[in-house]
Amino acid sequence: MRFTALLTAMTAVATSVVSAAPATGAAAACSDLLASLPKSVLIQTSPTYTPAQNGGFNPLNNKLSPSCIVQPTSASDVATAMRAVFKHKANYAVRSGGHTGMGGWDSTDGGVLLDFSLMRDFSYSSSAGTVTVGPGLRWGEVYNMSEAYGVAPLGGRVYHVGTGLVLGGGLSLLSPQYGYACDGLVSADIVTVDGRIRTVNAQTDPQLLRAIKGGGGRFGVVTKYELRAFPTGRNSDKNWYGGSITVLTPTGIDQMVEYSEDFVATPDDPKATLLSNVGMLKQAGVPVYLGTTFAFYKGGAEDFNRVFGQFLAIPGAIVDVKPISYLEATQVTPLGWKPTQAYKWIGGSHYAGNNTTPLPLLPTIPVLNEPTPTKFLGIWRNVQALIVKHVDVLESAFFSITPVGTTQIDQGYAAGGNAIAPPQGRNFMHYLFSNILADGTTDFPADFEADRQQFIKDNPSDAGLPLFLNEVDATQEAFKSYGWYDQLKRQYKRFDPTGFSLRFQQGPTF
Ligand SMILES: Cc1cc2nc3c(=O)[nH]c(=O)nc-3n(C[C@H](O)[C@H](O)[C@H](O)COP(=O)(O)OP(=O)(O)OC[C@H]3O[C@@H](n4cnc5c(N)ncnc54)[C@H](O)[C@@H]3O)c2cc1C
Ligand SMILES: *[C@@H]1O[C@H](CO)[C@@H](O)[C@H](O)[C@H]1NC(C)=O
Ligand SMILES: *[C@@H]1O[C@H](CO)[C@@H](O)[C@H](O)[C@H]1NC(C)=O
Repeated sequence: MRFTALLTAMTAVATSVVSAAPATGAAAACSDLLASLPKSVLIQTSPTYTPAQNGGFNPLNNKLSPSCIVQPTSASDVATAMRAVFKHKANYAVRSGGHTGMGGWDSTDGGVLLDFSLMRDFSYSSSAGTVTVGPGLRWGEVYNMSEAYGVAPLGGRVYHVGTGLVLGGGLSLLSPQYGYACDGLVSADIVTVDGRIRTVNAQTDPQLLRAIKGGGGRFGVVTKYELRAFPTGRNSDKNWYGGSITVLTPTGIDQMVEYSEDFVATPDDPKATLLSNVGMLKQAGVPVYLGTTFAFYKGGAEDFNRVFGQFLAIPGAIVDVKPISYLEATQVTPLGWKPTQAYKWIGGSHYAGNNTTPLPLLPTIPVLNEPTPTKFLGIWRNVQALIVKHVDVLESAFFSITPVGTTQIDQGYAAGGNAIAPPQGRNFMHYLFSNILADGTTDFPADFEADRQQFIKDNPSDAGLPLFLNEVDATQEAFKSYGWYDQLKRQYKRFDPTGFSLRFQQGPTF
């Protein structure tokens, strides 16, 4: 059987195995682990099982009931856990910060959950120019600690998000200067599915290092990250400028989308970083449309105003910008919603462009049917149409644009390459369309789910552009969109020859 066919078969098996959730393998693994790691294993009657079960941010995962939860304190504990999982062919899942939008990706019904909340070591090496981070830390905690040395690694833009971000690529406020978050990965300690511990870096295994830069959790369980430390300054250094710009009118929101597209169309300025979120947020049950651009410049007001002048001039814009430290910049983007609100995502990647061809108008969705003067506005129109049709079940929904500039792309290749491997030489953007439910329900009704899948079909990414694994729907096959897809498959076959992780762990597929 050709490897592609094998992988397809494995993926089909994985789906059926996982959905059938046979508890026997996991029950045997948990029983072994209760004996070998008695202090680290929680079963359903343990007093701290429920808080650990609910330790993620997404109720789609918190509602799942693992047969046992392992809270390792060392790589050796993780190796012991994986040996039991491997021996008994148990379904398993791995959770760090718990922010995935994909149900089943960071918890498991009836399987073994590895929960990293106790592995929180941090250290800084000035000689290596790196920070070393345990998988259980949140980015806000990492930045608080690294600030003391005037440095920061490439990590999340929201303080509460966890380290799994690196494995999915990762978009940082520093990305325009230094690359995707994974491009800062110098070395990782990783436990293979069969329970061996390996240190992966450019000396020991450059191909595997490249594979885990964007390969998600597919290549093993990471127990330690060594990340390049970049000179961001101390908190007393107000060497950045920026904050938030908020608009509340339909015209203002359209302008925000248009100017974000202009930003992508403008030659790259790596000191400028932008995240535009436009969408709907219910206030006391009433949908309110709004947009916020989080914009920062490594420099002063003059440069900031030059780059973001269009946004500042939107009539009625609420502007909250000032000189700030990098640490303060990482605290500006809010969490957005509560850990009791279930969410799913849709992702896409596009070049800027004055495309005059209207996007297909979703057949099942009553669209606004307006002309689409620019490409991003065309996508935003379709996003609005989906929101309007399903506004009853949505508590909030946002279309979030992150530009990816030519410097960011080049930095990834300069650091040895990542699995995403985007084309060089032209800026593009990743968007995230987030669908967030009201408190107390995890139910995405069938008609909404059907329209979400239709939206994905009707709004394909531009040819040749990779999807951003951290922010897609579980049905979107990000690996297939990667520039390094064929090599990634080959590395997976070399590293997990029986396809164990594909068969027993939900997550990205080939
Ligand atoms: C409010 C919010 C803000 C966000 N902001 C950003 C942002 O600024 N930039 C960005 O890039 N993304 C952002 N994201 C997306 C986020 O990066 C992804 O959801 C990411 O997967 C979260 O990592 P985590 O550790 O918090 O989540 P988890 O759900 O714990 O993990 C995510 C995935 O990685 C796997 N995994 C985690 N740890 C390990 C490990 N040690 N070894 C092997 N596999 C592992 C998990 O099994 C799971 O499949 C945001 C998400 C939310 C909800
Ligand atoms: C970082 O430190 C500040 C100041 O001590 C504190 O208010 C904040 O909660 C810390 N953030 C995190 C994520 O720990
Ligand atoms: C669209 O065209 C106009 C006029 O040529 C130009 O100013 C603008 O930057 C273009 N926008 C994009 C996103 O390419």
